[in-house]
Amino acid sequence: MEAVLGLLVISAGVSHGLETSCDARQNVSQCYGALGGTVYLQLVTDDTRYDELSFYKDPTGAKTKILETRKDKWVIRDTPIKDRVDFFINNGTFRLNNARSTDSGEYLLETFNSVGISSGIRGLQLFIEAPVSSPQLSSECLSHGEMRVSCSSEGDGPQYSWTLDGQTLRDTETSPGNETNTITLKKGLSGDLTCTIRNYISSDSISKRISPCLERGVSVFVYFQLAEVFILLTVCLGSYCFYKKETCPQEQVSRVYAVSGGSWWDSDEGVFVLRGAMETN
Ligand SMILES: *[C@@H]1O[C@H](CO)[C@@H](O)[C@H](O)[C@H]1NC(C)=O
Repeated sequence: MEAVLGLLVISAGVSHGLETSCDARQNVSQCYGALGGTVYLQLVTDDTRYDELSFYKDPTGAKTKILETRKDKWVIRDTPIKDRVDFFINNGTFRLNNARSTDSGEYLLETFNSVGISSGIRGLQLFIEAPVSSPQLSSECLSHGEMRVSCSSEGDGPQYSWTLDGQTLRDTETSPGNETNTITLKKGLSGDLTCTIRNYISSDSISKRISPCLERGVSVFVYFQLAEVFILLTVCLGSYCFYKKETCPQEQVSRVYAVSGGSWWDSDEGVFVLRGAMETN
């Protein structure tokens, strides 16, 4: 399984074919290479200025000598990486092909004078990184019309930056993350949003046209108010009916007699009853 994975990584690296070069003529240089790519390290300006050079890997650990030069001759020592390295004596450049993550680490260059006495030591730190790839952008509307946008990628040590219509977004809330970087856009923003991901050896970007989010927060608020009104109405109606029910029997028996001189108003019948007429009936 590991072998299969290794093969996959290598073939992916070959398809990238990234080349990086680093000036390693200063002490404590930091150099970066792409996984599966080619790394050029310029160790010296002109090799003929030195009588002897030794280049080591992991000087504080196993300390394996990779390369040795004497006058105009050079030897790649028998190490696990010997098939992947080369040296150009004309310009003092060391080449590492098909870089692997195990190539990351400390290296050391030691120079010697004509009598074989060390004349200088220079350290170098090499980082082999997976290039950033396949950036993905996703957005989501929040309440109050804000928008949350996430950018994600594969690769080592990605650094994210954002632009909207070419303008760098600075006053946005960003939440740092290695695999995913999330920003929150203010209400009403629209345009072409670009997320750029870079690490030391590569960069990639993705753009998306964004339109303002509908203010979901407000509509929810309106719904809430409508519901409130409805509940209030129901309560009012209910209590009115309840009250009415209680008063209804009284209404049924209530008969308003407007008695005046033997005649009255029968509110039930809705007629004015005359006393004389009643008597004749
Ligand atoms: C050094 O020489 C080699 C072979 O001629 C070349 O590929 C490489 O780019 C050169 N490097 C520099 C730093 O000049």
